[in-house]
Amino acid sequence: MAIDYNERIPNNVELSENRRLQRALEAWQPAYLDWWKELGPVGTLNYDVYLRTAISVEANGWANFGYVRMPDYRWGIFLAKPVEGRTIPFGDHKGEPVWNEVPGEYRAALRRLIVTQGDTEPAAVEQQRLLGQTCPSLYDLRNLFQLNVEEGRHCWAMVYLLHAYFGRDGREEAEAMLERHSGDAEKPRILGAFNEKTADWLSYYMFSFFTDRDGKYQLASLAESGFDPLARTCQFMLTEEAHHMFVGESGVMRIVERACQLMRDHKTDEVRKFGGIDLATLQKYINFHFSVSLDLFGQEISTNAANYFTQGLKGRFHETKIEDDHKLRDATWPVHQLVDGRIVPVDQPALIAVNERLRQDYINDCQRGLNRWNKVIQSYGIDYEFRLPHRAFNRRIGTFGDVNVTPDGKVITEEVWQRSKGAWLPSDDDRGFIATLMQPVIEPGKIAGWIAPPPRGINGMPFEYEYVRFN
Ligand SMILES: [Fe+2]
Ligand SMILES: [Fe+2]
Repeated sequence: MAIDYNERIPNNVELSENRRLQRALEAWQPAYLDWWKELGPVGTLNYDVYLRTAISVEANGWANFGYVRMPDYRWGIFLAKPVEGRTIPFGDHKGEPVWNEVPGEYRAALRRLIVTQGDTEPAAVEQQRLLGQTCPSLYDLRNLFQLNVEEGRHCWAMVYLLHAYFGRDGREEAEAMLERHSGDAEKPRILGAFNEKTADWLSYYMFSFFTDRDGKYQLASLAESGFDPLARTCQFMLTEEAHHMFVGESGVMRIVERACQLMRDHKTDEVRKFGGIDLATLQKYINFHFSVSLDLFGQEISTNAANYFTQGLKGRFHETKIEDDHKLRDATWPVHQLVDGRIVPVDQPALIAVNERLRQDYINDCQRGLNRWNKVIQSYGIDYEFRLPHRAFNRRIGTFGDVNVTPDGKVITEEVWQRSKGAWLPSDDDRGFIATLMQPVIEPGKIAGWIAPPPRGINGMPFEYEYVRFN
């Protein structure tokens, strides 16, 4: 399973044995590079960036760090090792051998799942393309670029599946992946959250914590798929995703840390005048990014999701660790619904509630991150606690798309919503203030005043290391 870096497209799928596929992907590669140069991070083509590149798909496969010009990053095709004798872990086909080809009857559904996932990857790169110009430190800049090249590789991961298993329409979908663009009026990205701008580094860290985490949960449920190439692709992507989660969580944590330092030093909650971001503003950003990310899990009650599950295409989070029949024939799941103007959990057939279950797993994971941020606040003896807003707050999709709900979960009128939303979500003023903080700091060892330095650098290097060289 070693990765072959002598090939034009590095891979561990013996691409050279399949000339047709190799040629097709080599034909797609220049289009990808053109896309990167046009819509990847602005003005960075000559930068030398201290990046990690996978050398194998084993747990220690990230050992390779070095300076890379991003257009020369070795984007390739890496699948986790096959598990011998693996059987489909859930749904009607449970216990049957996994598929190594696309089952004809599920072709359209699988393609849709792969295209939807794949579309988010280059979308995130496009959303973040301006951020490099306002980085708070070289360390942060390097992490941004690491995430960017890896999201680019995730695009490769899905494009490989489309090319290898879906024939001509797969090739067309692969091309379309580079034709839709984030925020494009005519050809937008598929999911709403990926058409929003990531305007500043606070939004970026919140995005990496909340929205990228949706990606982690989608990948985890696809990693259970009965279509083995998809499962193995996603398993390897999850090892990259772990670092993305770290970047988001630690980024917000360092902003919290800095706010707390300023509160302590100046004995005030109003740290804006000292160049920090106050905790109340951070709470509003949490409210915003959490609620738009919840929408990405789709409808609370979903026959599509039920079908994906029954067909063995997309499982639940940690499917094989769950103790039940893995078919959900009689099981129920509490789904929050609107009953007489109140939001209450109502038991529903678990099969049509798999989206909601995944959303719950995600919420629990987010809460764990918030708990760690709250510990930082506590350690300063400050009496303040971040809270996740209610799952019905500020939703656009699903049961709560049409109602107005407070962060505490109370249904309110449109009028009250309009009057109060500035207290719950970032206002133009808040965003304007954050924008004033976005001044680039690119001297090694220096950092912007609104964020604390990280406790350690990358790959054992100190924070002062020259993670990016501008040429
Ligand atoms: Fe990704
Ligand atoms: Fe990611």
